[in-house]
Amino acid sequence: MLRAKTFVAGLLILILATACSSETVVLSPDGSIELQFKLVNDQPFYQVKKDGAVLVTDSQLGFEIQNQSAIRDNLQIIDVQQSTFDETWSQPWGEVKNIRNHYNGLVVTLQEKSNLQRIVKLNFRVFDDGLGFRYEFPEQENLKDFVITNELTAFNMWSDLKAWWIPAYGDEIDSEFLFSQNNLSEIGQKVHTPFTMEAGDSLFVSIHEAALVDYAGMTLNPVGKELKCDLVPWSTGEKVKTSAPMKTPWRTIQIAKSAGDLITSYLVLNLNEPNKLQDLGYVKPEKYNGIWWGMHLNKYTWKKGPNHGAASPVVKQYIDFAAANGLSGVLVEGWNEGWDYDWSLGRFNFTTPYPDFDLADLSQYAQEHNVGLIGHHETGGNIENYESQLPEAFAFYQKHGVHSVKTGYVTRQPSGEFHQGQYMVRHYQRVVEMAAAHQIALDIHEPVKATGLRRTYPNLMTREGARGTEYEAWSAGNPPEHTVILPFTRCLAGPLDYTPGIFDILIEERPENRVHTTLAKQLALYVTIYSPLQMAADLPENYEGQPAFQFIRDVPTDWEETRVLNAKIGDYLTIVRKDRNSDDWYLGSATDEQAKELSIDLGFLLPNRKYQAEIYADAADADMESNPTAIEITSSTVTATDQLELKLAPGGGQAIRFHLLE
Ligand code: NOJ
Ligand code: CA
Repeated sequence: MLRAKTFVAGLLILILATACSSETVVLSPDGSIELQFKLVNDQPFYQVKKDGAVLVTDSQLGFEIQNQSAIRDNLQIIDVQQSTFDETWSQPWGEVKNIRNHYNGLVVTLQEKSNLQRIVKLNFRVFDDGLGFRYEFPEQENLKDFVITNELTAFNMWSDLKAWWIPAYGDEIDSEFLFSQNNLSEIGQKVHTPFTMEAGDSLFVSIHEAALVDYAGMTLNPVGKELKCDLVPWSTGEKVKTSAPMKTPWRTIQIAKSAGDLITSYLVLNLNEPNKLQDLGYVKPEKYNGIWWGMHLNKYTWKKGPNHGAASPVVKQYIDFAAANGLSGVLVEGWNEGWDYDWSLGRFNFTTPYPDFDLADLSQYAQEHNVGLIGHHETGGNIENYESQLPEAFAFYQKHGVHSVKTGYVTRQPSGEFHQGQYMVRHYQRVVEMAAAHQIALDIHEPVKATGLRRTYPNLMTREGARGTEYEAWSAGNPPEHTVILPFTRCLAGPLDYTPGIFDILIEERPENRVHTTLAKQLALYVTIYSPLQMAADLPENYEGQPAFQFIRDVPTDWEETRVLNAKIGDYLTIVRKDRNSDDWYLGSATDEQAKELSIDLGFLLPNRKYQAEIYADAADADMESNPTAIEITSSTVTATDQLELKLAPGGGQAIRFHLLE
């Protein structure tokens, strides 16, 4: 199903010229969003309206350039092109199969009236669910190699909106924070994107970026109601080193009438280039377990010694468990030389296994059990060390039949480069391409933020870039509201490897730590937090004899359709997804620390058909604090005309499989 058309739509365009300002307007296909571009005193500005009301008031565009004047002043419009585009494309894997890419486009070419006469184009795409814009510098005489010292893009919000945020420049690993909620004027520090705002019950806005390639990541600096683009610098202070011709990433503004519609907006993906990879046979959504949680609990060590996690007998035990339970991947961390030193030194060797880890033997054992090993490259943030071994590191895994690798960047030493700066953006890109050349898919921890590049490079499957389950093992943990904020913030960027599925909620090995959910909510996370790779994170022994583990065995990782049935950011949400490979639907519902009752309509099921609803609910007396593992597993026959009442305990959740009966 592919429909595409592009033409110049003269009727949609309105150019008003006055003595000091000229305006160009473009509407979204349904007419609800209006983008206005204008020059005011020869400087570029844009404005956005939703349903006729101003949402982003006049906001600055432009750049400061090293050793040159800013590209902002003395500009004139020399060309205006308008187009419309409508295409439906399919994701090789994803949270939804088919995505409609439908927008009205506007490209305004600006040129300085005198002096250097530099040219910059502004490319706007206005969709029904928001808009994106990027700057393009064509090849030109007076702009060759140049250094951007500041991007002047601003997002001047119409009112002092409520927002959810994590700090930018916060620590060594960049984005592993709990969210705060404040009005814009109260934030007072630079924040990461996606940055999500709410205006009452019927308007939600999220600012992010798409297609971040060879440029600096954008953070936002809130000043009053205005959010100023703040590009993450090099350690030496420059923002972007570049040369014309070039295109910046897209600045994106997603606009929705309900919080759930932000989750099912695919605008960021639509602004990325189509798939560039030939063979995708090795790129497979899957569930995995791994030699991982045991290290975070100090049961095993990454480094060699008596409790070495990656020792072959332990790995075989995990392979056996995976094979018996429908998990097709086994992650092994701590398998290679280098873990005996301080990680931040990054002295890892990616082709030298510890002597007790026999990769050839394990790889064959895994294959015999229809399981694939998932490799691990912890770099410790030492990019020089990693890059010097890059081709060999991936060739080594490829030779042993490993088609998926988790990477990690736990510090930013010794280079001192930020995870979101241009230096690291280039590095992550190099790794994605190197992995693809060796038929390897990636799960990146401590990553650069996702900006939809998975469309172009589908081997870039998932990543962390959030405070995940690991924090439950060795810190104060993640309060219940964290997982009902993530789907509306971090997860708008792309898949999140949150590593759910902890059944030993009180964590026997670490009595001072615990997981901050009920057991039923651990199951719900497989549906509410999308990732094509989902971990069954707990120790295999904690799943033995647990009827609730059946949901993890059953839940798919590749979806045809996704719908949000109800949502309130920071409070609760319910998502249903249809399996891509069967007629079954799955539901995940989660709440914060408050108990919640939700009534849901099963109208998403096929009409006039019967489904077996396998329900994993918080028991009547379940409570995250006092009785977290009380779960009630029931089964009943339902149809599309039924309603279900979900009762979620404080810190609780519910998971349901709707299995189509013949
Ligand atoms: C941090 C990652 O998030 C975690 O999953 C991993 O186990 C450690 N680094 C060690 O690489
Ligand atoms: Ca981490």
